[in-house]
Amino acid sequence: QTDSPYHLLVPQHIKSLLRPRQKFSHKGTFGHALLVGGSYGKMGAITMSGHAALRAGLGLLTVQVPHIGYTILQTALPEAMVLTDDHAHHLTRFPEDLTKYQCVGIGPGLGQAEASQLALERLFQQVTPPLVLDADALNLVATDRLLRQHLPPHSILTPHPKEFERLTGPATDDFHRLQLLKEFCAQYQCYVVLKGAHTCIGTPAGEFYFNTTGNPGMATGGTGDVLTGILTGLRAQGYSALEACQLGVYLHGLAGNLAAQAEGQISLIASDLYKYLGAAFRKAS
Ligand code: APR
Ligand code: MG
Repeated sequence: QTDSPYHLLVPQHIKSLLRPRQKFSHKGTFGHALLVGGSYGKMGAITMSGHAALRAGLGLLTVQVPHIGYTILQTALPEAMVLTDDHAHHLTRFPEDLTKYQCVGIGPGLGQAEASQLALERLFQQVTPPLVLDADALNLVATDRLLRQHLPPHSILTPHPKEFERLTGPATDDFHRLQLLKEFCAQYQCYVVLKGAHTCIGTPAGEFYFNTTGNPGMATGGTGDVLTGILTGLRAQGYSALEACQLGVYLHGLAGNLAAQAEGQISLIASDLYKYLGAAFRKAS
């Protein structure tokens, strides 16, 4: 043990976090999550998040999508319940009662319609379950000061470097980027998963956790949406924000490594990540 704020996510630590299933558990034991996203032409993103949330061990999943997403979701993801927005092509509101959800994941395929932005503003002014924010939810936060002011504390944010830059402004080098990460996490009391070849988790306490799994086969559309689902599924099961980030990032990369072993890095696609997530859990346990 050292006092350094820089840590590596190593297998022994991941293993110690994983909770085996108890014999008399039931689906209520493993949480109910809500995923919100999707828009015309981007329903795949939220569908893949949903698959990943369920493969992460989640008990129950509800997905909220714009009206055109109804048949797509019910067909592609029969395990999930579906709520539809009145609007056909993008989201304009969140469900009134969020108390039954242990985590809400928002952003994959969301788009940046003004009505979606207003809905997010209303959400942030309420008391919410723990949030996971990704993709266009982050882009909206980056452009809307009201959203930043009311960002619910202990939220998990999962930007790629471009989305991160929109939130914090440009970094001059890698060290400066970590400085910005630390300041952002402290200011908003949130957990930021800064994605890349060496994904780094920043915490409100100023710690950094670097991932040790993953490969360049994962540089393909939708792999981030899968991570959002995994994090939402883990958080809803009662893992703390930090535990969910550590487990989620590590298992996502491990699934990528197992998928690459079987399919090759070149042919790896995002859905392979949730296909191999079970094998990743087994290997990490
Ligand atoms: N090595 C290891 N992991 C990698 C590598 C690499 N070389 N390249 C990418 N990854 C991992 C990242 O760590 C991250 O977990 O793949 C994931 C990519 O996530 P995103 O950048 O969010 O990509 P994507 O899922 O395609 O995003 C979908 O949402 O964020 C928006 O603009 C984005 O339209 C896009 C959509
Ligand atoms: Mg993304």
